[in-house]
Amino acid sequence: MSNILFVTSEVFPLIKTGGLADVAASLPRALMKLKHNVRILLPGYASVMKAAAGDVKKVAVLDVDGESVTLWRTFLPGTRVLVWLVDAPGFSEREGNPYCGPDGFDWPDNAQRFLLFAKVARLVALNQAGLDWPVDVVHCNDWQTGMVPALLAQDSVRPATVFTIHNLAYRGLFSWDTFASLGLPHDLWHMERLEFYGQFSFMKGGLVYADRITTVSPSYAQEIQTPEAGNGLDGLLRYRQSALSGILNGIDADEWNPGTDKHIAQMYTRRTLNHKLKNKMALQERNGLAVSEQPLLGFIGRLVDQKGIDLILDNLSQLLTEGCQCIILGSGMKDYEQQLLQLAQQYPQQLSVTIGYNESLAHQIEAGADIFLMPSAYEPCGLNQLYSLRYGTLPVVHAVGGLRDSVIDFAEPSQTDATGFMFYQYTAHGLYTAIQRALTVFQDKKIWRMLQNNGMGKDLSWHQSARKYEQLYSELLITSSPHPSS
Ligand code: ADP
Ligand code: GLC
Repeated sequence: MSNILFVTSEVFPLIKTGGLADVAASLPRALMKLKHNVRILLPGYASVMKAAAGDVKKVAVLDVDGESVTLWRTFLPGTRVLVWLVDAPGFSEREGNPYCGPDGFDWPDNAQRFLLFAKVARLVALNQAGLDWPVDVVHCNDWQTGMVPALLAQDSVRPATVFTIHNLAYRGLFSWDTFASLGLPHDLWHMERLEFYGQFSFMKGGLVYADRITTVSPSYAQEIQTPEAGNGLDGLLRYRQSALSGILNGIDADEWNPGTDKHIAQMYTRRTLNHKLKNKMALQERNGLAVSEQPLLGFIGRLVDQKGIDLILDNLSQLLTEGCQCIILGSGMKDYEQQLLQLAQQYPQQLSVTIGYNESLAHQIEAGADIFLMPSAYEPCGLNQLYSLRYGTLPVVHAVGGLRDSVIDFAEPSQTDATGFMFYQYTAHGLYTAIQRALTVFQDKKIWRMLQNNGMGKDLSWHQSARKYEQLYSELLITSSPHPSS
């Protein structure tokens, strides 16, 4: 039984921009079921402070290099998971997205904000924040927390550190001027430390200094060691190969369960799969699509290059003319948003596009669509294809990263274990042929049902993956010194 400090820049339902928030909410709970003590450290953004308002308690006031920081204790809504909120002006005095302003550009003081967060994480990790909680393992996530292992590496007695890469494309890069203004030790500006081609990278703090590095699927762990997917960090990752492993994400099987889902028109299970049709009809009706038996394709996600929107756009008109319907929910690059909205005007009965973030609609699409599109150019893990498997909505995916590790392609008619459709060439044609294969099988209700059953029968919960993290922590604890006491 270990004390694990889980450091993250987002956690569902308090604040979410992507899959990291889902992982940060469900992995700690899975570890707690395995009898570990897990506590989450999260920035106290304005919206989070508001959301938690009814249930916060001030637990410490710290002076961090002259800046006053208040730590508040709250719990993840509806759970026993304790969250410490780091309340400092850089977080709590502005509304909106945690990383960028309303113009879509990064907040200009991100380096200062997340360095301050890392400094607080270090104090909590060393049990020097007045919280009286000795830490065995600090588990950090993505570039926003990369400075935590880098700072802790300067301490001779410290807890073990794990750094999880959720997306290597976001490296937390800043200029020399910013580095110089942060007052960090000058020797960190070195290519074997934080310097990165004339800039410096928070992500490198995690990759260079953490005791172990994980990423969110075994395939992505391999891919990021190649120049194609390494984002300039593949050399470092190859160097740290023996410390690097891939552990596939699980899902929150309570939150994403068609049998109990309160967001959807009609709950269903494997045994009552016929009820899925009611969700399709409700989805069509509520979103202005013709209520019909045409195959309905769904997409949910950030509208950015990673997600393969270009491939979807290249195929969309043709698919709609050939008799498919499509429902898209997402936000991101304005250009993609506009192209999608324009097409939706052209095909009002066939295509529904919702720009924005909508948790309920996301559940309704998972329940109501027949096919889920996830043609990502790269995908560290991906959660929506996992939700789709659980909801009997067959995924069409590009064979990369976590998509490759979680979907079994229906490659030949005799295959009985398939759960979806995969394409290997990242081209519009590659996606088109995979969708055509799916549409052909869609006509054969018996085989379709078999694939749905296969997906719905998978154990996608966190249990197995949490055990792998547990194993990793215990290996670290055997080799490291005992945790510091206050
Ligand atoms: P990523 O973290 O790269 O964005 P994931 O598939 O891991 O991709 O996770 C995305 C998560 O965010 C899923 O839970 C998905 O349902 C959710 N999501 C993304 N965009 C939206 C949106 N516009 N509305 C509601 N949920 C969304
Ligand atoms: C990232 C990745 C996504 C992954 C998620 C949670 O945002 O893009 O593939 O599922 O993190 O680990």
